[in-house]
Amino acid sequence: MAKGFFISKAVGIAGIFVGIAALSTIIALSVVYSQERSKNNQVSPTDGGGGETTTKPTPTPSNEPWDQYRLPKTLVPDHYNVTLWPRLKPDPTTQLYIFKGVSSVEFECVEDTDLILIHSNKLNYTTLENGKFAKLSAVNSASVPSIRSSWLQTETQYLVLQLDGKLVKGQRYQLYTEFTGELADDLGGFYRSVYTENGVQKVLATTQMQPTDARKAFPCFDEPALKAYFFITLIHEQGTVALSNGRETGTTTVSLDGQTVLKTEFERTEKMSTYLLAFIVSDYDHISSTIDKVNIRIFARKPAIAAGQGDYALNITGPILKFFENYYNSTYPLPKSDQIAIPDFNAGAMENWGLITYRETALLYDEEFSSNSNKERIATIIAHELAHMWFGNLVTLRWWNDLWLNEGFASYVEYLGADKAEPSWNVKDLIVLGDVHRVFAVDALTSSHPLSSKEEDIQKPAQISELFDAISYSKGASVLRMLSDFLTEDVFTKGLQSYLQQFAFGNTVYTDLWKHLQMAVDTSAVDLPSSVNDIMNTWVLQMGFPVVTIDTSTGLVSQKHFLLDPDAEVTTPSEFNYEWIVPIKWMKTGAVQNPKWLSAKSATISEMVTGGSDWLLANLDVVGYYRVNYDDSNWSKLLNALNTNHNVIPVINRAQLVDDAFNLARAKIIPTVQALETTLYLKNERDYMPWESALNNLDFFFLMFDRSEVYGPMQDYLRSQVTPLFQHYKTITSNWSEVPKGHMDQYNQVNAISLACNTGLKECQDLVQGWFKQWMDTDINPIHANLRSTVYCNAIAAGGATEWNFAWEKFKNATIAIEADKLRAALACTKQPWLLNRYLEYTVDPDQIRKQDGTSTIIYIAQNVVGQSLAWDFVRARWNYIFTQYGGGSFSFSNLINGVTKRFSTEFELQQLRQFKEDNAEVGFGSGTLAVDQSIERTQANMKWIEENKANVLKWFTDATKVTA
Ligand SMILES: *[C@@H]1O[C@H](CO)[C@@H](O)[C@H](O)[C@H]1NC(C)=O
Ligand SMILES: *[C@@H]1O[C@H](CO)[C@@H](O)[C@H](O)[C@H]1NC(C)=O
Ligand SMILES: *[C@@H]1O[C@H](CO)[C@@H](O)[C@H](O)[C@H]1NC(C)=O
Ligand SMILES: *[C@@H]1O[C@H](CO)[C@@H](O)[C@H](O)[C@H]1NC(C)=O
Ligand SMILES: [Zn+2]
Repeated sequence: MAKGFFISKAVGIAGIFVGIAALSTIIALSVVYSQERSKNNQVSPTDGGGGETTTKPTPTPSNEPWDQYRLPKTLVPDHYNVTLWPRLKPDPTTQLYIFKGVSSVEFECVEDTDLILIHSNKLNYTTLENGKFAKLSAVNSASVPSIRSSWLQTETQYLVLQLDGKLVKGQRYQLYTEFTGELADDLGGFYRSVYTENGVQKVLATTQMQPTDARKAFPCFDEPALKAYFFITLIHEQGTVALSNGRETGTTTVSLDGQTVLKTEFERTEKMSTYLLAFIVSDYDHISSTIDKVNIRIFARKPAIAAGQGDYALNITGPILKFFENYYNSTYPLPKSDQIAIPDFNAGAMENWGLITYRETALLYDEEFSSNSNKERIATIIAHELAHMWFGNLVTLRWWNDLWLNEGFASYVEYLGADKAEPSWNVKDLIVLGDVHRVFAVDALTSSHPLSSKEEDIQKPAQISELFDAISYSKGASVLRMLSDFLTEDVFTKGLQSYLQQFAFGNTVYTDLWKHLQMAVDTSAVDLPSSVNDIMNTWVLQMGFPVVTIDTSTGLVSQKHFLLDPDAEVTTPSEFNYEWIVPIKWMKTGAVQNPKWLSAKSATISEMVTGGSDWLLANLDVVGYYRVNYDDSNWSKLLNALNTNHNVIPVINRAQLVDDAFNLARAKIIPTVQALETTLYLKNERDYMPWESALNNLDFFFLMFDRSEVYGPMQDYLRSQVTPLFQHYKTITSNWSEVPKGHMDQYNQVNAISLACNTGLKECQDLVQGWFKQWMDTDINPIHANLRSTVYCNAIAAGGATEWNFAWEKFKNATIAIEADKLRAALACTKQPWLLNRYLEYTVDPDQIRKQDGTSTIIYIAQNVVGQSLAWDFVRARWNYIFTQYGGGSFSFSNLINGVTKRFSTEFELQQLRQFKEDNAEVGFGSGTLAVDQSIERTQANMKWIEENKANVLKWFTDATKVTA
């Protein structure tokens, strides 16, 4: 899956500025389900049709095979024949949207057994003529035991069949079932999505199986290693199109249940995992092209296709697919590649093999409405999903505990694929802001966790869901980028290619990749201090990362586990004692030196002794997953270099110096004012990455101080720093009439406007309010798509109910999700508490705000200094409701909890948080469990930080303003 929703920071902020839409902030997605199970876990006994009494075994808890979450290793599926019929209109009597299905699975018995367990969740079975939920037959007329009893084990999500004799090792059997499921709006399994087209409400049926919801569509052995072939048939209404993983082989008109309907059959799939299946019925249109016999199609709502919104995706898919074929040295294994935009979708996108599903904003591009940030997100998500076609789909990790490798890999190479499509963007640099810096923040907490989990620790669906977090995605991407760099790209791809070749259509564990990379290293000139396995274990098996300290007077280089809160206690032991094998790329006064390794707690590297005016800079381009600290003298030489001629330091490292300094200060390794000093040179900085890095860090200052007396002087200082940047853009855009040329320059223009307006630069505020007023007066929107997020936010913050209601109307009537998203975020910027409270109510009303957008809207509101406490009160008061009603896949609870508590920094807030944890212990926090503890830890750290820093920071801003003024 791709990163879930993204918060364009730009927005929440009219108090906090915003870094903006620039970088799609990913916040990992999570498919959350299973909350229903608590209310729903009674066992439903078989009805005793056919005159036979069925007794369900006395439930002796937890020792029966059906009480285990993992399947026994007795049966292995070969293929399934599945026919599904989703109804796009509610049943007239029950008002339920349903689907009906018939499935037949052929499996081989690999160990004698008298028990069949097959996953099934929320499906109702037809009792067949044998009085049971299923019919069993043998292939090749072997004898077949009869089914003694059949029932649904709700907690572990099984259909259980007890036999009165044994299935025999080596024999094949077929299991037949008929069932009905609800086509709910819960974004998981086979579900419905609803949208309005030309005033008419339309329903489509679609799927999201990953990780464990294929079992909600049909009974299946729903584990990634149980790959099989699938023959899929969909029954659908006339006038609709049916899609699945395979190519459609034909559509016929049939009469069923007294209705004339269409029946579309699909080519047999390749051997694949259940979580990659997809079934979709819609009235969509599409565009297509063919590249080397692969048929590429983009599907979307008819008006979206007619407006050309699929064109960009179609343009870049072919080149990206070709790029990956070459990168993996492996031909795309399917005859077609469909990509489809779904109005209601929980994650960002899902890599179903041959039929990739996307949120509309992640696939549809519109020249008028889409910003460059939207465009970048489309390119990177398409690349991410296409990368999975091989890494994940062709070769699949054996179990979910290795999810990080699948997602980390795709999150790394998505930048390579997007770079292929848009070479002028320098998008590869942005991984530093988008993944490395972002995940540092999470991985510096003691509540972090290692990338790799033990197979036995990941059992329940909720545990699997929890793995879809920033660590798996962004830390995974960061360490793989580091690995690819120190191996060299040639060696990395060579190992990768032989790995894919050996395991095609099979399953692996992560060490299989290390083995193939090692083989590639062994036949190359690359010289490593240890094996790939030993080096990588230090990064994969322990949480966190080091801060490497270089004393340039002695050449002493040492490492230490970097913790944001220096007083925090690490209670999880590590077999590596929190030491890493660290590759160090570095330069001296602008000249790149030979890379070094730090393989011990400390070492003396004599080449790193620098004298005189020479300075040393380590972790070039931040390819290493660590922070760097220096002796005072080197720090002041680096600051001096920034202040005199900042271009001698590579741009990514200018961003790094700012980010490292602020975080070292948070951890009390250097003084906070030293970190603030890295921002002095920004009045001369025009590049995006350092500014973005500074804004990301100052964001914390805004959160901590926007309710205190530090706020005023901080505003004054930042306004004076950003004014030259604002004027620079005014000049190069001929008084705001042109679009800056470079991708990064376009991003930084947004930063300039956001920060200038948010720090009260009058010229900026007049500018944006003027544009917004012009829009309201003429109904013609004069604002360039790149600037809309920040302009809307600032204008709504400055305005009242009139501006808010105008934007709300535009939101409700937006025909492109990308525009609706910008408005939805900006609506959270108002300073009127009553508008914010009303808006909060809308977040849990699916008629106002789609379920998929509920969490992020609440988070936007919480980012607003006025909305913070309102959002927190709302979440606390509604927790039970949100948790139970929105449990089925739509809310990402960890984002929600982290989002609403980000600003917490008082004793009172800490008490409230603890109370919240206690009060809801019974209901639980699902995928947000860890986030509650992280929030408590963060709040305590914030309290301490404010106490220690407030006076100094106030003085520094006050003095700095006097100097600059
Ligand atoms: C599935 O269908 C194929 C051909 O249509 C048939 O050969 C096979 O036996 C069927 N398998 C099962 C499990 O019904
Ligand atoms: C399944 O059965 C339960 C219990 O009878 C019923 O409440 C539910 O509506 C049924 N679901 C469908 C989709 O028919
Ligand atoms: C897609 O490619 C065509 C042909 O190169 C080009 O004219 C068109 O502008 C492109 N569309 C988009 C949205 O990039
Ligand atoms: C794989 O590499 C070989 C040798 O370089 C090349 O001939 C072949 O075309 C490549 N295959 C693909 C699918 O890229
Ligand atoms: Zn993914």
